[in-house]
Amino acid sequence: MILQFLPGGIMLKHLLSVDDLTGEEVMDLLRSARNMERDWDEPFYENRKVLATFFAEPSTRTRLSFERAMHHLGGRVLTAADASVSSSLAKGESLKDTFRTLGQYCDAIVMRHKDVTWTDHARRYSRVPVINAGNGGGEHPTQALLDLHTIHQELHRVTELAVMICGDLTDGRTAHSLVKLLQKFGNKIYLAPARRVCANGYKYDMLMRCHDDGCIYIDHQDQKEVLKEMDVVYMTRLQKERWEVTTDEIEYLRLDRKLVSTMKQESIILHPLPRQEEIAEEVDDDPRAAYHERQVRNGVFIRAALLEMMLYQRTK
Ligand code: CP
Repeated sequence: MILQFLPGGIMLKHLLSVDDLTGEEVMDLLRSARNMERDWDEPFYENRKVLATFFAEPSTRTRLSFERAMHHLGGRVLTAADASVSSSLAKGESLKDTFRTLGQYCDAIVMRHKDVTWTDHARRYSRVPVINAGNGGGEHPTQALLDLHTIHQELHRVTELAVMICGDLTDGRTAHSLVKLLQKFGNKIYLAPARRVCANGYKYDMLMRCHDDGCIYIDHQDQKEVLKEMDVVYMTRLQKERWEVTTDEIEYLRLDRKLVSTMKQESIILHPLPRQEEIAEEVDDDPRAAYHERQVRNGVFIRAALLEMMLYQRTK
């Protein structure tokens, strides 16, 4: 993780991007998350650490799993949900001043906000560690960690995987972080972007703005064929709330039972959720569909492992 030194030699670690993690730290976190799950019923130590969860965009899983993880560690939580309307951001307070203020109340901050650049303010102005829970269409590093943890649990490896990442790859922050994390371990990544069809007939693929070096692009007409060879199929929703033009038609891969029946038996289907029409509900009962229970549940364990590493500088 990126280390910063404050006056007085205090060390500060942030997790603002997957780039802030070394491969060794990732593997430590996966091991620690496994141990968290194994020892979940054992009493944890009491501690007086306080986590602030400051969410200026909607969330169900990320905020609540961070809060559940902090409660498990014996710490306390300050919550600002709906912060875009309930905090002083709504009165025009800057992100810079927001970080300065939050740092006086807590030992770490988990932040989500639509501005891609808020992480720069965090790095500059926060006196406590900050974890990125989503910076607009930028990154969502803890989602990628829980995705990799799930892959490891299900397929028993994090290398030599063929992974297809589907959907809105332009604004999908979970896809951006997962590509970077999978690349740290030398996996083969296939990008299956949604395609927008404009009113004038012009078509364009929702490819990544960045981080796609070394990935294999799959044209819309070939996506169903390539699907059959994959170890992991990672579906993402269309991020329509981030689009300026909403009248386009969209072509994108949608999984239904028939299509899933063509996939390898030992493959898995992941989705960061929330899900829209890209996975039909009839797929949910397929044993390869890991998203609703195994993947979601892993969010608590990986976030507990991360908070422990960041706040107590140790792993179990
Ligand atoms: N995957 C994810 O970020 O879910 P939430 O938006 O519910 O936190």
